[in-house]
Parts: sequence; structure tokens; C-alpha cells
Amino acid sequence: MAWHRLMVYLSTAGLFCFMMGINVLLFISHLISPSLTKKIILKLGERVTTTQNPNFKYEDWGLTFSSFAFVKTASQHMWLSLGQDAFVGGEAPDTLVVNMEGKQTSICNYFKGNRPLFKQLVKDFGDVADFLVVYVAEAHSTDGWAFANNIDINQHKTLEDRLSAAQILVEKEPLCPVVVDDMSNVSAIKYGALPERLYVLQAGKVAYKGTNGPWGYNPMEVRTFLEKNE
Ligand SMILES: *[C@@H]1O[C@H](CO)[C@@H](O)[C@H](O)[C@H]1NC(C)=O
Repeated sequence: MAWHRLMVYLSTAGLFCFMMGINVLLFISHLISPSLTKKIILKLGERVTTTQNPNFKYEDWGLTFSSFAFVKTASQHMWLSLGQDAFVGGEAPDTLVVNMEGKQTSICNYFKGNRPLFKQLVKDFGDVADFLVVYVAEAHSTDGWAFANNIDINQHKTLEDRLSAAQILVEKEPLCPVVVDDMSNVSAIKYGALPERLYVLQAGKVAYKGTNGPWGYNPMEVRTFLEKNE
């Protein structure tokens, strides 16, 4: 898997330079013309779930791209993504997670037989796949790169913080078990999962690996994958 790792380093370095470039350009363009900047960001973001999320309007998140908190959060995510260990066709890392009762368990404990394990699309594919949501570090914490008009969640300092933040998710009834990453953030790191990422795991192997969100977060791709493999 050595060349996989090399690809991770190279693509992360490339992405970082790209992001910094875009960031500086947007900052300048916002000084010149805020309305044109808004058009550009919305255009760039057409494929991004944030732009389609009815809970947020552009003003809640658009301007944060030229902020230090964005650069800091995105850089941290990229830095941690260097530790990823989940590659299509390779072993699925059986990382430590914590269930909502606060008990330690691990991702592979949620496999039943050899059915693919996975998040979302639960209703449509519940009879062929098992679904699991692993709640990892908060991407938009109030004390980090926050959106306006979002739920207030500070970055978790303790496991209790993380469990109570995940409780908000449980209340939305995801129709599948929710576990949280251990405070070492081992699942987020090995799965390169920050800020969010979709996987299909099957028979202990990584069968599908989405690109990381929000740009790469693509439930439709997973749907297509599951339909093909049903
Ligand atoms: C794991 O993530 C949390 C944020 O949710 C952070 O506060 C903590 O320092 C991280 N742990 C490690 C070991 O990096």
C-alpha cells in the first residue's frame, strides 16, 4: 500500500496549495466585488451539499472561506488525512469507536455476515446492507470554523462532550446505529474521514471509498455502487 500513501501525500499537498490559492483569490475578489464573489462561490459550490442544504443561506457560510478559522480547520483536516489507512481493495481498519452507552467497541463489530456496512440510504438498502454512522470531530464547531445559524457545538474536549453532541444526531433518527470516534480520533484518521466521508465496507475490506466532503460527499455514488453490487 506504499504507493497509496504516496498518492495521499501528493494529492493532499496539491489540494493544500489549491485551497490556499483559492482562498487568497476569494479574499481579494471579495474586497473588489462581494456580489461577484458570491456568484463565483455559489457556482463553485453547485456540487457541494452545503449549497443545497436548506438550513443555511449563503450569508451563513460563504464569507467564512476567507477567514483564518477556515484555513486552520481545513489545514487540520488535511494534516490528519495523511494518516489514512483505508484503501479500496485493502483491509478495512477495525478502529475503536464508542457506542451511545459510552462502551468501547469497534467498526467491524457492526458487520453482520458479509453484507456491506455503511451510512445513509438506509431505507432503500436496509435489506442488503448494514448502516453505521461514526460521528467524528466536529467540522463546524462554534469555537472553530463556524457557520452562522448552525447548532452550537464546541469542539469536543471529552468523550462526554462528543457523546452529547452525537445525541443531537441520534434524535434525528438516522435509522441505524450511531457510534462516536474514540478521543484519539483514530477512526477519523485511519479513514481520512474529516470533515465527512462515505465508505462501503464488505467482508472486512474497503469496497468503496468516497472522496472527502463536502465536495466529495456523494450519496448518489454510493447508491449506484450498491445497485451494481446488489
Ligand atoms: C480529537 O479531536 C478533538 C476534537 O473533536 C480534539 O479536541 C482532540 O484534541 C483530538 N485528539 C487528539 C489526540 O488529537
